[in-house]
Amino acid sequence: MKFFVDTANLDQIKEARDLGVLDGVTTNPSLMAREGVTGKDAIYAHYKAICDIVDGDVSAEVISTDFEGIVAEGTALSEIAPNIVVKVPMIKEGVKALRYFSDHDIRTNCTLVFSAGQALLAAKAGATYLSPFIGRINDLNWDGMQLIHEIAELYAIQGFETEILAASIRTSRDIVEAGKAGADVVTCPLDSILGLLKHPLTDIGLEKFLADHRAANG
Ligand code: E4P
Repeated sequence: MKFFVDTANLDQIKEARDLGVLDGVTTNPSLMAREGVTGKDAIYAHYKAICDIVDGDVSAEVISTDFEGIVAEGTALSEIAPNIVVKVPMIKEGVKALRYFSDHDIRTNCTLVFSAGQALLAAKAGATYLSPFIGRINDLNWDGMQLIHEIAELYAIQGFETEILAASIRTSRDIVEAGKAGADVVTCPLDSILGLLKHPLTDIGLEKFLADHRAANG
């Protein structure tokens, strides 16, 4: 199971990398805007800076919504660094672009996926990664994790190679649940990854071990 960090913040990306468990990064236009990165040149330079920090896949999202625009933008993004993955929205023009990129050996992440039907289309079009948005489904009081189960079953039965990238993950517990549901990858904020560390018995146990060592050794 791969861990991606879902941020465009360079310090957080470095901290996740230094933990030694980071396999990649996902970004989106909202996350780029949150870092104050605006304008094409600055945005491309920021993607390059991220790619210089991590060896793993870095998703860079197109903002075009027409086929020609998505292809032109995605091709330019893919030339920033070899580990760029072009993030394409699950719309009709996006599906056409996924097929184009697949035929031209450009790796993709199909984003804004909310149903098994959309997952089927993306896999048929040759998407490298598929991003179902778990948290946003849960926000509507539906069951996001059930969608991961359904897509994992569908892909296994049909033998699709598209990797399921559970996105919009906001809790540490959901990382575990996504793994059990069959996600190949999870992407989430750094805090959710660090949350996996937490258990009070670990803290209590360590404190006791160190106290016993001090007592015995002075
Ligand atoms: C995924 O690639 C998206 O960037 C992200 O996971 C969306 O998460 P959110 O629903 O918390 O904004």
